[in-house]
Amino acid sequence: MATKREGITQAPGALPIVGHLFPLLRDPLRFLNALPSYGDLVQIRLGPQRAVVVCRPELVQQVLLHDRIYDKGGPLIERIGNALGNGLASCPHSAHRRQRRSLQPAFSRACLREYAAIMTEQIGTLKTSWSDGRVIDLAPQMYNFASGTIARTLFTADAAGPAVETVKECLPDIFRGIYQHAVLPPLLSRLPLPANLRYERARNRAWAAVSKTISMYRQDHETHGDVLSMLLKTHDDEGGALGDAEIHAQIMTLLVAGIESTAVALTWAVHLLCQYPDVQERLRTETAEVLGTRNATWDDLPRLDLARRVITETLRIYPPGWILTRTTATEARLADTVIPPETTLIYSPYLIHHDARFNPRPSSFDPDRWLPGQQHVRGAFIPFGGGARKCIGDNYAMTMATLALSTIVAQWRFSHVDHQPPHVEPRMTLSPDKLQVRVECLDRTPD
Ligand code: HEM
Repeated sequence: MATKREGITQAPGALPIVGHLFPLLRDPLRFLNALPSYGDLVQIRLGPQRAVVVCRPELVQQVLLHDRIYDKGGPLIERIGNALGNGLASCPHSAHRRQRRSLQPAFSRACLREYAAIMTEQIGTLKTSWSDGRVIDLAPQMYNFASGTIARTLFTADAAGPAVETVKECLPDIFRGIYQHAVLPPLLSRLPLPANLRYERARNRAWAAVSKTISMYRQDHETHGDVLSMLLKTHDDEGGALGDAEIHAQIMTLLVAGIESTAVALTWAVHLLCQYPDVQERLRTETAEVLGTRNATWDDLPRLDLARRVITETLRIYPPGWILTRTTATEARLADTVIPPETTLIYSPYLIHHDARFNPRPSSFDPDRWLPGQQHVRGAFIPFGGGARKCIGDNYAMTMATLALSTIVAQWRFSHVDHQPPHVEPRMTLSPDKLQVRVECLDRTPD
């Protein structure tokens, strides 16, 4: 039974030593969805560590908007810092403003327009790699597409190719390791278990590949018009150039934060379109009108309205960043409850998106809920977080996913092979373990 203490309810079912480890590893979504029934602030246990899950949109907004009080911290952020270095996603408030300023130019509208050309080219390669009637495992295909695209916007030099391949190979083990290390008791994550060794090996290989690419760029003195060249030229507020460690951390952060989240969003979008063939056909009508058989480009975006709403609704049902943490830097007050300093808080876009009080009919896939004029509860749609720490790549991701989805749907019809819903794997992102789909070619003259 749940017990209540000073505005914070203790979630039932914690076991000695491991706390809520088993439900968090076995069925984290069901576990999270049950928490709002115990209260607005619910304490769970990750091994010996305690964390308070914030279960109402307006309270999550308070946490996100007061980033000085609710600073980055908690087990997930510590593991991200350990895996990637002290980059934008995990740095404390004290370093954040400066770091964000040095990366922001790489996400300007003008840059996005240039990246869109790379996206269009990469989607072309993806869609022409399929053949009519073939069954494909979609997740690795989307992963390859997203990693190829993001890596090419970070480093375009041909010589960086091997590093891109190494990082692509290593990231899945890094993602799995970060989540497992965050929920496992610290002692278990230090033992030489196969999963721990795989994580360490992957992290070290990716780390070395990125270091090598930075040294190579420094030596050849050329500007390649990519994010790494931009960071090498960036000066901080005091006019000093960024050091290798900081550049390294930012590149690893962008790779880790950007690739899997966007790949997973696209995979879930196709899964939902298979589940709702009527929406798939409506989307095909839109893409036929706007694109015919050509690949979508930046200039098409304003007319790809349904594609954008399909992606938006996918991010509501399956938000890739599903569990995120903060730590109180000072004593805080939330929902009239005093939260002591150094308390770990969790916010979960998944939990908020699936609470019927804030998103009616939460399990039903309805892109039309995002038509103009529809009413929404403030703060009840947070796939990219919010406040100063909101995702820096939100427009990048929406552009890439909209271009990719409309291009492939224009030319291919997707259907499920297995009618069982895919099992959700609890990793740093909310990922389907396997999604097999049959692809049927609609136009036999691809451009
Ligand atoms: C559908 C795709 C994506 C989703 C759902 C997503 C989600 C998120 C979320 C929820 C946060 C906030 C984390 C927090 O509050 O602790 C975040 C931060 C961040 N994201 Fe994304 N992201 C996506 C794509 C990308 C892309 C494409 C990039 C870069 C290429 C990126 C880079 C980052 C970075 C650097 C941060 C840290 C920002 C800061 O603290 O200032 N993300 N993302």
